[in-house]
Amino acid sequence: MEQQRPRVLVVGGTGTIGRAVTECLADSYEVIVAARGGGDVQVDASALDSIHAMFAAVGTVDAIVSAFGRAVTGGVGALSTSDIEATFTGKVLPQLNLARVGLGHVRDGGSITLTSGVLSKEPVAGFAAVGMANGAIDGFCRAAAADLGDRVRINCVSPVFVLESGPDRQRLGLDDSLLQTAAETALAYRTAIESGLSGVNFDPRQARAGHPAAAQAPDRA
Ligand SMILES: NC(=O)c1ccc[n+]([C@@H]2O[C@H](COP(=O)([O-])OP(=O)(O)OC[C@H]3O[C@@H](n4cnc5c(N)ncnc54)[C@H](OP(=O)(O)O)[C@@H]3O)[C@@H](O)[C@H]2O)c1
Repeated sequence: MEQQRPRVLVVGGTGTIGRAVTECLADSYEVIVAARGGGDVQVDASALDSIHAMFAAVGTVDAIVSAFGRAVTGGVGALSTSDIEATFTGKVLPQLNLARVGLGHVRDGGSITLTSGVLSKEPVAGFAAVGMANGAIDGFCRAAAADLGDRVRINCVSPVFVLESGPDRQRLGLDDSLLQTAAETALAYRTAIESGLSGVNFDPRQARAGHPAAAQAPDRA
């Protein structure tokens, strides 16, 4: 009898990073793709009711990956209060709500992986609110891991700029250390699921350095 594959819910699984995560997991997992449009199940993670409805449709999973989040770009002098609020409600709050609600739908020993980003640790001019959002997600995962113990692991991945997203390398002054493909980035999500670790910020560049599967040196702040 064929063994059932572990089930992974990828919210934002139709996006640039989410699609690569889905492809990266497809050989060993049953992947359920969620997004506002498209995918296997529809969710708007900015609405709590919609998150509850998604889990009612999907049931229990072994892992949740969050690969969505909208942030407003701009230097600190150009940001308005509503830009900062929009970044919080676009990137931080829905991921935290997904994790909070998702806890009740992940089997014991399973995992939740959120998405932050490199810009809170290695700032680039023009991304002050993005840095704020990334730092908030990192901090939440570390603190929540202390609450959750072994029941459910919670981590985040902090991508650098993804080549397929077409970052303006010249304008932003990006060198190769801040650029990766979506496929390289996706390996870090798989590592987070399979690592057995919790409260860790996974940096996808360590996968590119030649340790694709779980050879990360975790960044515990
Ligand atoms: N791309 C990069 O260079 C980069 C670098 C560092 C960090 N990141 C972070 O990585 C995450 C994903 O980025 P990405 O470039 O892959 O984004 P993307 O290509 O725009 O894809 C976003 C995905 O999330 C879904 N989505 C958007 N809002 C949603 C909502 N409210 N509820 C549920 N699903 C929603 C989208 O589908 P629908 O529109 O159909 O909902 C899509 O599947 C973001 O947090 C981003 O800040 C990206």
